Amino acid sequence: MVNKLILLIAIMLPFISRAQQANIIPQPVSIKMATGSFVIDNNTTLKVKTGNKELQAAAVFFTSYIKNISGKILPVNGAKSKAIELKIAKTDGIGQEGYLLQVTPASIVITANSKAGIVYGMQSLFQTLPAVRTNFELQVPCMNIEDYPRFKWRGMHLDVSRHFFAPELIKEYIDLMSSYKMNTFHWHLVDDQGWRIEIKKYPKLTEVGAWRVDKLDKVWGDRPQAKAGETATYGGFYTQDQIRDIIAYAAQRNITIVPEIEMPGHVASAIASYPELCCTQQSQLPLTGGNYTNMSSNYCAGNDQVFTFLQDVLTEVINLFPSKYIHIGGDEVDKTPWKKCDRCQARIKAEGLKNEEELQSYFIKRMEKFLISKNRKMIGWDEILEGGLAPEATVMSWRGEAGGIQAAKMDHDVVMTPGSPCYFDHYQAGPEGEPMAIGGMNTLKRVYDYEPIPAELNEQQARYVLGAQANLWTEYVTTAEHVEYMILPRMLALAEVVWSPKSAKDWMGFNERLQSHFRAFDQKGLHYSKGDYKVTIKPFSQNGKLMATMSTEALNSDIYYTTNGSEPTKQSTKYEGPVQINASMILKAVTVKDGKVMGVKPSQQSFVVHKANGRDVTYASKMSRYYMADGPNSLTDGIRGTLAVGKYWHGFNGTDLLANIDLGSEQSIYRISLGCLQNYRDWIFMPQYVKFEVSSDGKSYTEVATVNNTIPVNEQAATIKDFVAVFPEQKAKFIRVTAKILDACPKGHSGDGKPAWLFADEIVIQ
Ligand code: ACM
Ligand code: ZN
Repeated sequence: MVNKLILLIAIMLPFISRAQQANIIPQPVSIKMATGSFVIDNNTTLKVKTGNKELQAAAVFFTSYIKNISGKILPVNGAKSKAIELKIAKTDGIGQEGYLLQVTPASIVITANSKAGIVYGMQSLFQTLPAVRTNFELQVPCMNIEDYPRFKWRGMHLDVSRHFFAPELIKEYIDLMSSYKMNTFHWHLVDDQGWRIEIKKYPKLTEVGAWRVDKLDKVWGDRPQAKAGETATYGGFYTQDQIRDIIAYAAQRNITIVPEIEMPGHVASAIASYPELCCTQQSQLPLTGGNYTNMSSNYCAGNDQVFTFLQDVLTEVINLFPSKYIHIGGDEVDKTPWKKCDRCQARIKAEGLKNEEELQSYFIKRMEKFLISKNRKMIGWDEILEGGLAPEATVMSWRGEAGGIQAAKMDHDVVMTPGSPCYFDHYQAGPEGEPMAIGGMNTLKRVYDYEPIPAELNEQQARYVLGAQANLWTEYVTTAEHVEYMILPRMLALAEVVWSPKSAKDWMGFNERLQSHFRAFDQKGLHYSKGDYKVTIKPFSQNGKLMATMSTEALNSDIYYTTNGSEPTKQSTKYEGPVQINASMILKAVTVKDGKVMGVKPSQQSFVVHKANGRDVTYASKMSRYYMADGPNSLTDGIRGTLAVGKYWHGFNGTDLLANIDLGSEQSIYRISLGCLQNYRDWIFMPQYVKFEVSSDGKSYTEVATVNNTIPVNEQAATIKDFVAVFPEQKAKFIRVTAKILDACPKGHSGDGKPAWLFADEIVIQ
């Protein structure tokens, strides 16, 4: 009897569970599936209370959606036997954006406290329907959902300055956001490379500032500057009518648009239009791409005309955008022009400011005062903390979370958008096989694993974290398809981070639900990343032994690897657990899924076993805190730096490397080498030369060789070079290595004249 029952359940289970998956992303707070479904057919009407404008708008949104996927025109308040009811009613426990969705074979009811909740109830329902126009029956599975968001700021940013995107793409972006219950669209309308919003009082902002000379064929930072006489034809802008239309479109989908009007830096576009706004007041050539050396990019903080201009601009912006928040940028201001400007220096004196940081703070505070006078709130990038935070400012923390933590501890609101993992301009897979990105890697899983409340904040401080946001900067993103690719599916992971309860996080479950969204993307012709198949090789030390683990984000897959430099296949060794590295080797690994080797190229990591392994390295000059690899002894850990900038390199900015190694006892040696990286794009250059010295007492050193660089400074391909000294075998206890950094970034480079970087790993001693 018992056995029979178990058998029956076993047969029934897969059937029931398949029929009852709603696959909703983000995962609702509570979802209970039931048997059966509601079919939207000719006997169905949409029921809404008449006289409520918001509900009428929601009804239009609902009926047009159904028409788009089925051709059916759903009557509103018709005499039909079955109803889908949209109901605004006071409901406890779900807040302003929450909703209840109850589906039985006879009715569907969406209940919420406001239109926002109704929209989200509809979005959950839409996710159970066909994604595109079909003749399939419109079946909604029976279920009971109670749902509300964890955070109130669920943001997506889009940079339309580096490349302009048509209103159609903006609407598509808004549609995608709304489908996944994101509610804040941060529209980055102003930057050096283009002013994108029509301002009636200052027509040149878009006549001049919205256009640049097309130099599409170059790496962003290295695009040549315009020459006199070249015409600026690449770009575009939004008229105020287009913006109003987009705002209304967004509002229907419960999306608030926060416009960003950058200041006081990143505004070469405004200065190209009105040169009197910068410190030199000199006209400049048309814009090109990322290279704006020798161009003015800041407003003059000493010129009252600048503040008049910005207040005029913001007045028009405020008249257009109903958003409570106005973003004023504030990031990455190079203060050099202010240091050289009489007006700026006079302002510093007159206002009793200490330095240029306080001048920036003065600038931002003055603008906040204006925004508050207009009943708006100011938000800015975390640099607005420097020189003193404006009294009521909200801080967008992008350079990690430190700025956000600091602001929350000062009782200021915060939006978390740290570069890792919230910058969606970084690679999400590969990077082999992916379109060129600005560098760095934010995979789907890293986004999914993100927790917006830092552990450093107590419960009271954590309340200042309004939510999180992903940013899509578009230096390398030129088309709508590419925009789709960069946010899909990472936005879905972020949606689950900011909407679903922390306790509901389930990476496997998310992946299972994701599959039906992938099918929908395919049907809609949306571009997206199918996943990261790279194998992550993580070296570590255990009882003095060097070991490596291997892992992949791909579900239901295996890893195969080789240690002899050959290409791994599914006949290679299968990874079962940590591998000991007991000799110099190149470890190569691939992900195998459904019997196929995935990805474009195997992942690989070189290891070297040599006499200095594990020995302490002391430095005469400090390495950058951003590039410390796995700690001070990275140069002797046996793990070689890879072509990726972030992997196992010690970085030095503007200073030589001077390293000293104590071998512990006198050893017989005949060869020393230092590996270095050149990555032109990221301002990393080979040293001019490397000098090797040995000593037996740590006091008097003998030079064994000085090896000059042979890689040209303008070599653009990422390159690793070993500087090698081979000499007659001799005894030594101490080794000193000096790598002479390039004096400055070379002429014609985007960092022309600025300090170069030196990246080193590893010092190999044999
Ligand atoms: C930024 O990425 N400069 C805010
Ligand atoms: Zn000035």
